[in-house]
Amino acid sequence: MTVDLATRILKADPSAIGAAGRCLADGGLVAFPTETVYGLGADATNERAVAKIFEAKGRPKFNPLISHVTGAEEAKRYVRWNPLADMLARKFWPGPLTLVLPRAKDSPIALLTTAGLDTVAIRAPAHDMAQALIKAAGRPIAAPSANRSGAVSPTLAAHVAESLGSRVKMILDGGPCMIGVESTVLDLTAERPTLLRPGGATREAIEGVIGSIAVSDALPSGDTARKSPGQLASHYAPGVPVRLGATTVSSDEALLAFGPSPPSGARTILNLSPAGDLTEAAANLFAHLRELDGQKPSRIAVMPIPETGLGLAINDRLRRAATDDGSGRQG
Ligand code: TXA
Ligand code: MG
Repeated sequence: MTVDLATRILKADPSAIGAAGRCLADGGLVAFPTETVYGLGADATNERAVAKIFEAKGRPKFNPLISHVTGAEEAKRYVRWNPLADMLARKFWPGPLTLVLPRAKDSPIALLTTAGLDTVAIRAPAHDMAQALIKAAGRPIAAPSANRSGAVSPTLAAHVAESLGSRVKMILDGGPCMIGVESTVLDLTAERPTLLRPGGATREAIEGVIGSIAVSDALPSGDTARKSPGQLASHYAPGVPVRLGATTVSSDEALLAFGPSPPSGARTILNLSPAGDLTEAAANLFAHLRELDGQKPSRIAVMPIPETGLGLAINDRLRRAATDDGSGRQG
């Protein structure tokens, strides 16, 4: 590689962590170590910052992300906590167990962080540098693994630099990750606690604390490699039909516009980005969809979105919304 990595890979010291915390608070991206794998972090409460994660990863889909917090006390501000979560957090946090819980009323977690879902995946990482970074940022950090889409998860700062290159300005170097596989994802919003992704905390250890748990149907038994974990989550779907590629609109439709010259005549209109900026459009996507859906038009008409960059993920999400049966779940 020809890039000067030394300018971007920062050794762990208080001044580097302070700078990284400010970068996050300003809406920037920071790659940081956890005990599982390196994460690509952004302010979990800032739609625009979270959009940059998907842009940097080149992910063709918006998968819901994990919000990283210092511990249970902080988590209670963002999710509806319950006794099972409490038992599990006492045993496993900080550590490689992610809990999926209902979004708290007035939770500041961005809709893009949860891909529009009413649930939030949350964990407290067991890594001093990650903990110090969350404190320095003064907010929860949304972070998927810090690699380009389709590549293996990074367990060294150098892996992050190789995979993401100049797409990430700052990489905190905490040496090799102790665990090296992602966290276990456990859904506590289902009727029975359900394992969505196997990982650093074993099923046996979890069952030792809360008794027997269910395993997601979408999870092949015995699979620990997980080819596409994002497929395990259900998706936010609007309650009204969605029509794509709209260049004209009728008076009973709500228009989800993109770009400077939307057609007129819609019942209501919200523009994802009047400037035609895909990062801005991604940041507005779920909030705008929800708002239009809430107005109960006969249909939501969506203008064409370019199939480039973040447009791929936006169009993937919109196509799912357009083909969904409205039950709010999708296979
Ligand atoms: O160890 C880890 O978990 C690493 C480090 C950086 O913390 N992060 C990580 O993130 O692996 P990611 O984005 O690669 O995986 C997040 C997983 C995905 O399987 C996603 O579907 C699931 O968590 N997930 C996130 N939010 C969810 C939600 N609200 N409901 C169900 N599943 C969710
Ligand atoms: Mg990943």
